[in-house]
Amino acid sequence: MRLADKTAIITGASTGIGRACALRFAEEGAEVLIADLQVEEGQAVVDEIGAAGGEAQFIEIDVRDPDDNTRMVEECLDTFGGLDILFCNAGVTLAAEITETTDEDMDSLLDVNVKGGMYAARAAVPHMLEQEGDSSILFTASKTGLVAQEDSPVYCASKGAVVMLAKALALDYADRGIRVNALCPGIIDTPMLNRYIEDLPNPQDAWQEFRQAQPIGRLGTPEECADAALWLVSEEARFITGVALPVDGGFTAE
Ligand SMILES: NC(=O)c1ccc[n+]([C@@H]2O[C@H](COP(=O)([O-])OP(=O)(O)OC[C@H]3O[C@@H](n4cnc5c(N)ncnc54)[C@H](O)[C@@H]3O)[C@@H](O)[C@H]2O)c1
Repeated sequence: MRLADKTAIITGASTGIGRACALRFAEEGAEVLIADLQVEEGQAVVDEIGAAGGEAQFIEIDVRDPDDNTRMVEECLDTFGGLDILFCNAGVTLAAEITETTDEDMDSLLDVNVKGGMYAARAAVPHMLEQEGDSSILFTASKTGLVAQEDSPVYCASKGAVVMLAKALALDYADRGIRVNALCPGIIDTPMLNRYIEDLPNPQDAWQEFRQAQPIGRLGTPEECADAALWLVSEEARFITGVALPVDGGFTAE
């Protein structure tokens, strides 16, 4: 029970990496607020946690909306009586060269991947500073926040921004009880990856290529990301802040 008596918000927790983290955090004793656009899938995660004896609740939010982020933090405080862990994980991809990227594409991706986390942190920090005990903020960035990838300039730029957001917040709050880190997944088998690959001209070759791209020789799993995320927000990482941790089967080591 590494998160006993802790309360956590996880955005983008209806599917993929966020869902696996919600299940894992709850298994370790956290009360989890699942915040996402996808209601049915989010409620299913709540039910799964409840069936396993854990505590969770769902809130429908769009991370692009500052008021939704405020409402999410208030809901966590009202329901669970505190906020120890904020995990900004919701994200979207965009595979397109810059010349094929519209103004709307840029705004929409940056609003979710970058500003969503800023709004959430701005809403959560005052409460984290007020309450007793240490708190933790975690962002899902990506290996593409550390090394670039072809045909995804706006996505890479967004994830680079998330890494720096985490580091800058880590400095601001290091001596005030809030640790801030970024998780940098490699190629992880989630609905997002499935959508991305199935849209490519030759999905079968792409699956093979993606598996081989990581030195470990396979895709990562959402559960492997959840184990790393759990460690980063847990007491075991109490001296770790401002870190961008690759969970990528060695991808960024090359
Ligand atoms: N899968 C990968 O290979 C991979 C690699 C590196 C980083 N990531 C990052 O991991 C995070 C999770 O991605 P995933 O692969 O689990 O994808 P996913 O599509 O399975 O999950 C993303 C979740 O975010 C939610 N979401 C999207 N836009 C939202 C919005 N505006 N408001 C609220 N919720 C919203 C979706 O409903 C979904 O539940 C993302 O930030 C993604 O960029 C994924």
